[in-house]
Amino acid sequence: MKKIHLNAFNQCSAALQSFGQYRNPRERTSTGYTQTHHWVDLAQLLDRGGFDSLFFADVHGAYDVYRGGAEAGIRHAVQFPGNDPTVLFPAMAAATRHLGFISTYSTAYYPPFHTAKLFSSLDHFTGGRVGWNIVTSYLGSATRNGMGGLLAHDQRYERAEEYMEVVYKLWEASWEDGAMVRDGARDMHVDPAKVHPIDHRGTYFDVAGPHMCEPSPQRTPTLLQAGQSGRGIRFGARHGEAIFVTYPTVEAARPRIARIREAAREEGRDPAHIKLLAGLAVVVAETAEEARLKERRLRSYASPEGGFALFGGWTGIDLAKFKDDDVLDGLDSEGIKAAARWFTAAHPGRIATLADAREEMKLASLIPLITGDAVQVAQEIERWADEADIDGINLVPIYQPGSFTDFIDLVVPELRRRGRIRGSDASISSGGETLREHLFGAGHAHLLPDHPGWRIAGVDPRTRRPH
Ligand SMILES: Cc1cc2nc3c(=O)[nH]c(=O)nc-3n(C[C@H](O)[C@H](O)[C@H](O)COP(=O)(O)O)c2cc1C
Repeated sequence: MKKIHLNAFNQCSAALQSFGQYRNPRERTSTGYTQTHHWVDLAQLLDRGGFDSLFFADVHGAYDVYRGGAEAGIRHAVQFPGNDPTVLFPAMAAATRHLGFISTYSTAYYPPFHTAKLFSSLDHFTGGRVGWNIVTSYLGSATRNGMGGLLAHDQRYERAEEYMEVVYKLWEASWEDGAMVRDGARDMHVDPAKVHPIDHRGTYFDVAGPHMCEPSPQRTPTLLQAGQSGRGIRFGARHGEAIFVTYPTVEAARPRIARIREAAREEGRDPAHIKLLAGLAVVVAETAEEARLKERRLRSYASPEGGFALFGGWTGIDLAKFKDDDVLDGLDSEGIKAAARWFTAAHPGRIATLADAREEMKLASLIPLITGDAVQVAQEIERWADEADIDGINLVPIYQPGSFTDFIDLVVPELRRRGRIRGSDASISSGGETLREHLFGAGHAHLLPDHPGWRIAGVDPRTRRPH
């Protein structure tokens, strides 16, 4: 029976994907997001509650497409204001035993040398529990903040390919094992013969090296990816060890996940070596009727205009140009292509209007929502695993910490009863300590042998030496 990985979605921001919930008296993140203890408390809750990892999205500009400006995005706190999540990781790691910490970090904004140094540092300071969600980004506003020019959609991926080449060389090829000799007799702290420049010269980057950091527990952090176009899938199938996917339904997900696994095979990888994590939102209560009432209450707090502002930033499409009964069909984007095409994919055979979109995006924006009692929710998650072939979920909270506490109190025990997640012991059953071992089992702290990172870095996975 397929086990299900539990991943908690987040953003170090006042509001993530459900705008207006600050009016909900039980919502804590809209104020707590600036406080370290808020995040440490959440990490401990998830660690004890059986989650494998905590995943942060991140962006670098206001959402300023809707109505031609940033007003709606700012008014509804659309992922704005937002702090950098990576600085929280050491504090959260020190307070937890097993939870992994994943941050989105954009290839569009930071030089690869900086990214390699940051993630090596985080891997040291979390004891090997860090993951990098590789994104190529979409916000024009970030470009206007001096965060690098936003290239066209496919070119961003071409550049990201070279970016990955640089970081693999830094993480895997620059430092040999055993370079930190600390040999007093020879007065040699570091053995310079075991630390190599990478001398990368390419189209987008020239990086000499050597890498600044000695090898961390995972060397290369666990690699995640989020991008769903044809080009995005090819990139994810090459580099991703887990992929954050969002599909409206199991039926829409099934062929697309099969395509990702096929693309992995074409890259010479075992398709099971990519964990597919589906974004899902859940409203659960003791009874189905209570859950329905809870959903209705949560909807009453919603600020739907925030959803439109989010969609505008994701896609560059200004929904203010449409009327309520206009059909949202045939949309395309240089931002997130899957978001632009969401409404037709969400309702095959049915036409979605602007009014449908407004209702749908009230809770968790485009993330599919499961409402029910614990058994109903668990069964639906199992359907995603068995029929769409996902490996885990990325639980998108509607409000915090309530969406997580409800899930931990009601759904986790039900999934455990069904043998879908690890046993009653909240520890990671793999026995391994690193995030990669949470995903692939003890003894797999480093990139798996069939991962293209080895080939790209020019290192033999068995000997760890250059080819
Ligand atoms: C589910 C999902 C989550 C994403 N999260 C982020 C993010 O947090 N920050 C960011 O800058 N880009 C994010 N992206 C943008 C992707 O990295 C990519 O630039 C964009 O989706 C365009 O590629 P695509 O058309 O292949 O999906 C995300 C994309 C998807 C599909």
